[in-house]
Amino acid sequence: MVKLTSYFLISLSASLLAFSGSVEAKADLGACFLKVPKNPLTAHGLASTYILKKGNCDQTIADQQVFVEATVFDLDANTFSVYHPLVINEGTKPAIAPVVPKLPKNFIVGLWFGANSDSVTLTGDITDCVNGLSSTDIFSQVAFCNAHKFFQAVQIAKDAGKVTIPPLGKDPNGNPCPTTRHFGIIDQDQSDNVITTYLQSKSGHFSQATKANRNKLKKFTEISNGSDNALVADFLDPELKCQPFKAPSLMESGVQLGSMALNELHASHQHAPVALIPSNDPMAVSNNKPSLTKLNAYRRGVNQHLASNLNQANPKAYCINFGNVAPGYIQKIAKFIIGGPSPDTGAADNLLTFMGQRYAASWVNLGCDKILKKTSDITVTTDKKGVAIKVHFRQSKPIKK
Ligand SMILES: *[C@@H]1O[C@H](CO)[C@@H](O)[C@H](O)[C@H]1NC(C)=O
Repeated sequence: MVKLTSYFLISLSASLLAFSGSVEAKADLGACFLKVPKNPLTAHGLASTYILKKGNCDQTIADQQVFVEATVFDLDANTFSVYHPLVINEGTKPAIAPVVPKLPKNFIVGLWFGANSDSVTLTGDITDCVNGLSSTDIFSQVAFCNAHKFFQAVQIAKDAGKVTIPPLGKDPNGNPCPTTRHFGIIDQDQSDNVITTYLQSKSGHFSQATKANRNKLKKFTEISNGSDNALVADFLDPELKCQPFKAPSLMESGVQLGSMALNELHASHQHAPVALIPSNDPMAVSNNKPSLTKLNAYRRGVNQHLASNLNQANPKAYCINFGNVAPGYIQKIAKFIIGGPSPDTGAADNLLTFMGQRYAASWVNLGCDKILKKTSDITVTTDKKGVAIKVHFRQSKPIKK
């Protein structure tokens, strides 16, 4: 759910900086630098704090927050678990120190990053991390460490029949439950975020979002990302009586957590047409141009089939599927989701109007209107404040030159 306007602003400010001869901004607000601790793929590293550089970003400000999510695969038991490494502001201490996870004897861990800020550049121990094409040509709001190796190890176990990814299950219409690769679910930049949340204390210090920490802090706010992953797992699935793929938390017992990695693994069950990151995804382009290398670097981080050429990630084909699938799908599930809460009450008043305005906005942001020369099939009526309150289907009109 990238804010396209800010994406273009980033590239603009990056080129201005390059012109002035300095790459790292003094105080380019929203362009965050996050220091990865030493040995991030060990139990000790997971429990070490990630430091958000002062001056650029502040973890107490909603649109400057950065989140880290770890998914662990037990290579002997062939099971998964989830851990949330903690991000804190430079020069501060955590409200409550992170729990040191008890990891399996033989394991592989992957780290996924998602930012509410315009971008996140990783610094520190980043040997196993992918931030984009380079540290100056980044994806923007996402990054991964060891993700490719993690998915490779899972694939080997899958091929050997040692691990089964739970089935998708059926929605009340008898259709398979939605995944992050369903054309009815994707937006302008699919697969771009994590589910991690943190607790922010009254004094602006952070801790992991566990039951023990909630009890200890008493007064706190829970900070999060309004991600596509959360949209499926936390909003749509409950209304559609669907079950997201979850695994035990490594921070406390008795709690199951979803994660970006688990969602992408679950999405391997997605029936055709399968939505994979297209070449015009703002996070996969390089200098506003499609880049096969950057696209595949991104796809590898979220376990998607690589494209052998840019045509295989063609925005036109993506738009055709988006237009063919999403409006019909949203209409079919309308009666189940109209009673559901809106993930963003500033954008829409319920889950159906939210899905409607999100589709209409993504149609334009992906350039589908220009590529297919027709307007969005869904339109919304908004109130005085611009909040979507009604959805209209079958609205598509040809765009004449
Ligand atoms: C959530 O994170 C994604 C990328 O990680 C970003 O595009 C989106 O703007 C964030 N959402 C909010 C509500 O900040």
